[in-house]
Amino acid sequence: MTDIKKYLTEKKAVIDNALKAYLPQPEGPTADMVKAMTYSLFAGGKRLRPILCMAGAEAVGGDGIKVLPVACGLEMIHTYSLIHDDLPAMDDDQLRRGKPTSHIVFGEAMAILAGDGLLTEAFHLMTRPDVIEAFDPENLLQVIHLIAEAAGYQGMVGGQAMDIQTQGREIDPSLVEFTHAHKTGALIAAAVTSGAILSNGTEDQIKAIQTYGARIGLAFQISDDILDIEGDVINTGKGIGGDVKKGKNTYPSVFGLDNAKNVLKKTVEKALAGMEPFDQKADPLKMIATYIMKRRK
Ligand code: IPE
Ligand code: IPE
Ligand code: MG
Ligand code: MG
Ligand code: MG
Repeated sequence: MTDIKKYLTEKKAVIDNALKAYLPQPEGPTADMVKAMTYSLFAGGKRLRPILCMAGAEAVGGDGIKVLPVACGLEMIHTYSLIHDDLPAMDDDQLRRGKPTSHIVFGEAMAILAGDGLLTEAFHLMTRPDVIEAFDPENLLQVIHLIAEAAGYQGMVGGQAMDIQTQGREIDPSLVEFTHAHKTGALIAAAVTSGAILSNGTEDQIKAIQTYGARIGLAFQISDDILDIEGDVINTGKGIGGDVKKGKNTYPSVFGLDNAKNVLKKTVEKALAGMEPFDQKADPLKMIATYIMKRRK
């Protein structure tokens, strides 16, 4: 049986080391830019998306270490999304990963550019000659296509747009699931699926893992909404109560806190049910689903 806490801690350390190696030291004319990018990337963070990429690889018999460049690219894309999500024009937040947000420290223009820099660096990293060499090129291209789609207007960016456009307005309840599935579910699903594709998972395995990813991705955002009400600043590293103040359409605000908890539980159960055909190599994925339901940070 996998000890999930130990698994997450060990994987996080491996990912942090890899990320450090992938980014240059801040020096020369780009020093300030690199400083702003590294500030947010190393401010803390659970590294859930890269961990899922590695665990997705392992679940189909692959090697988590081998997929690190793609896993780290996913964390860069995620960190960019957080920097932009916190901007005054968006959620206007001052605290992230237990530290002042990028625009508070570096100013708005540099924060926008730090996000842009991380997003583009992700694709630069995933297409490095040594990375291309390490994988079946068709698999790698498929993964890059999948990640680009999940990060863009058909995924995260589309969900973020819906989140902002529906703020302070009453909406059709079905749009809440759309928003959550896109702004958060899409990248999480792409992360775990990428690991499985790069490790030559079978078509059935990849399909099952993608469905699992979409389910835990939705669950993850529902639990984020719940933590914005019941969580604390120390554990989450973010301000609490902002969703209500901003009039966000969240699971608790639209369906009520108890219903939100119920949907969270059901969604995690569905994710677990879909993983039944897998052997013990998929234990970490199963345990991550349960962890998402219980997390405090
Ligand atoms: C926060 O993501 C934004 C959401 C999609 C809810 P995480 O909770 O994974 O943030 P970090 O990476 O641990 O800081
Ligand atoms: C953000 O959702 C999802 C992203 C894609 C960044 P939230 O706005 O709820 O995330 P937090 O609570 O600020 O981390
Ligand atoms: Mg937001
Ligand atoms: Mg936010
Ligand atoms: Mg939130």
